[in-house]
Amino acid sequence: MRGIVLSGGSGTRLSPLTKITSKQLLPVYNKPMIYYPLNTLIKAGIKEILIIVTPERAGDYLNLLGSGRQFGCKFTYEIQDKPKGIAEAFIIGENFIDNESVCMVLGDNIFEDDLSEEIKSFKRGGKIFAKVVSDPERFGIVEFDKNMKAISIEEKPTKPKSNYCVTGLYIYDNRVVEIAKNLEPSSRLEYEITDVNKKYLELGELEVAMVKGEWIDAGTFDSLLLAQNLAKEKLADKLII
Ligand code: G1P
Repeated sequence: MRGIVLSGGSGTRLSPLTKITSKQLLPVYNKPMIYYPLNTLIKAGIKEILIIVTPERAGDYLNLLGSGRQFGCKFTYEIQDKPKGIAEAFIIGENFIDNESVCMVLGDNIFEDDLSEEIKSFKRGGKIFAKVVSDPERFGIVEFDKNMKAISIEEKPTKPKSNYCVTGLYIYDNRVVEIAKNLEPSSRLEYEITDVNKKYLELGELEVAMVKGEWIDAGTFDSLLLAQNLAKEKLADKLII
């Protein structure tokens, strides 16, 4: 299985912090933010990792993370020229993914749980990770029937059908590349990861696992502060890089 960390975007919600660096390089307690999602992949034994970055900050990522050899990994870099959506990562990463399955994590997503077994046990289709949130309008939202079978997924719904947020960790089989290439851009002109998930849901091949511990999308001032505290209290001694 190949890994991708998507670390694009301009981080406007964190301006002025992001005027001179990328959101995912900001400190979260004693590590740069991207170390946390990298830990999620590396703990699961994923060694070949594509890091997708913005052109303005590419040099900073290389300086920080280099070849990956110091972590026992091989890092590859690609540029996302414009923030055209999460699903574009599978188009940018087509050659890198080759004939493998792929586990992608967003560069600002911090998980308390060790999800290694969930990642290693993936076989085919798609697998996503849900967590109850209090602000469902901000996220991709998955609705379940009474048997906890996923029945719908919506991106940033104005009238959310549940409080189950789709977190930024996604595992797909190799078909994801073709699925991504056939997407139409959404009304906000992005290739939506939610549309990829809907496709696997239609195929009856989308598994939704639950995140038990804390999960933070550290893209706002308040969530960044929560992430700092989580990192200090619960994560610092569990990191392997
Ligand atoms: C993105 C996805 C959304 C997901 C969220 C998790 O939102 O579009 O479906 O729930 O990441 O962090 P964004 O952070 O781009 O607003």
